[in-house]
Amino acid sequence: MFRGCFGCFSQEKPKIRDYPWEIYTLKELLHATNNFHNDNKIGEGGFGSVYWGRTTKGIAVKRLKAMNAKAEMEFAMEVEILGRVRHRNLLGLGGFYAGGDERLIVYDYMPNHSLITHLHGQLASDCLLDWPRRMSIAIGSAEGIAYLHHKVNPHIIHRDIKASNVLLDSEFQAKVADFGFAKLVPDGVTHMTTRVKGTLGYLAPEYAMWGKVSESCDVYSFGILLLEIISAKKPLEKLPGGVKRDIVQWATPYVKKGSFDHIADPRLKGRYDRAQLKTTIAIAMICTDSNPENRPSMLQVVEWLKNGVMRRKREAQILNDAVEEDDDEDEDEDEVEDDDDDDNTDYEGPGMESSEMSMIRNEPRRR
Ligand SMILES: Nc1ncnc2c1ncn2[C@@H]1O[C@H](COP(=O)(O)OP(=O)(O)OP(=O)(O)O)[C@@H](O)[C@H]1O
Ligand SMILES: [Mg+2]
Repeated sequence: MFRGCFGCFSQEKPKIRDYPWEIYTLKELLHATNNFHNDNKIGEGGFGSVYWGRTTKGIAVKRLKAMNAKAEMEFAMEVEILGRVRHRNLLGLGGFYAGGDERLIVYDYMPNHSLITHLHGQLASDCLLDWPRRMSIAIGSAEGIAYLHHKVNPHIIHRDIKASNVLLDSEFQAKVADFGFAKLVPDGVTHMTTRVKGTLGYLAPEYAMWGKVSESCDVYSFGILLLEIISAKKPLEKLPGGVKRDIVQWATPYVKKGSFDHIADPRLKGRYDRAQLKTTIAIAMICTDSNPENRPSMLQVVEWLKNGVMRRKREAQILNDAVEEDDDEDEDEDEVEDDDDDDNTDYEGPGMESSEMSMIRNEPRRR
């Protein structure tokens, strides 16, 4: 435990290490980031700025803004949590520095940036996220969160699941970042009442209104993220006249009509598996149920996503093989046979099983 005495860790490098992160000197990190030069700045969040840097490899350094008692707590919590958590879909701690007024957290640099850059930012027009990539990012993020909820002891509630906190490595594998907001959940506690943190548009209603936090708040935020991945719509949009509409309110009428194609990102140009699209939307809708008791666990979400995606992948493969045997007709390999090509796509269209259908509740959302 490092609380209260970070400074002592940063003076000298210990000779024997039984932890997987580095303790940096300020000099090393100043050198790596060109003295935190503005050109090295990747972005800015609630707790400070993130800079790109280079040591023996690419790093991202989060420089915390102010060092008051509250920030000190956040830093202690982030380092303590990050240091303990290792999973292929979580952005683990690379190292840190603490001394004087500086608190610096070091991560591996993620060369493909964050989901937000691809969905709404600088790389949106490059269309690098095809459907299979989006599905694998969705599954990866779900696995990372499920790990926090179910495998880490005590369990961790992230509380700030959002597109800028899903980073993408060189293979476009998802790494969920930023556990600074997380609170450790003591065993046997089902929910805690706390001050609301997190980002508008992703907040579960019971959390936003009453500060009730539980794993299902993350499930809600993940549902919003899932709709965002599918549609590339922002979680919250301002309509003319200033009224705000969230992504679930936007999607619900299309879900009810069975117009799933309207929810898909137009930049995909129809290149997606329709059955997967329906299943994924169904999962997003149940994750964002206004009643936390109706939401699934992240383990359940991972299973549904994997079943939906893997089953369809296998079917697509069989279909492709059959087509190849029959004739040479040129098909995009990501595109599955159009087994369901009418535009009004009912819930009961081929590819959606009754168990998946029951995921979508027909009653209107209570807000
Ligand atoms: N390891 C990293 N590699 C590449 N980009 C990163 C890395 N860590 C953070 N970023 C990017 O730097 C920017 C700032 O991140 P930061 O976490 O400070 O803010 P945020 O995610 O927008 O908000 P919040 O403070 O709520 O997490 C984001 O766009 C984020 O995706
Ligand atoms: Mg972040």
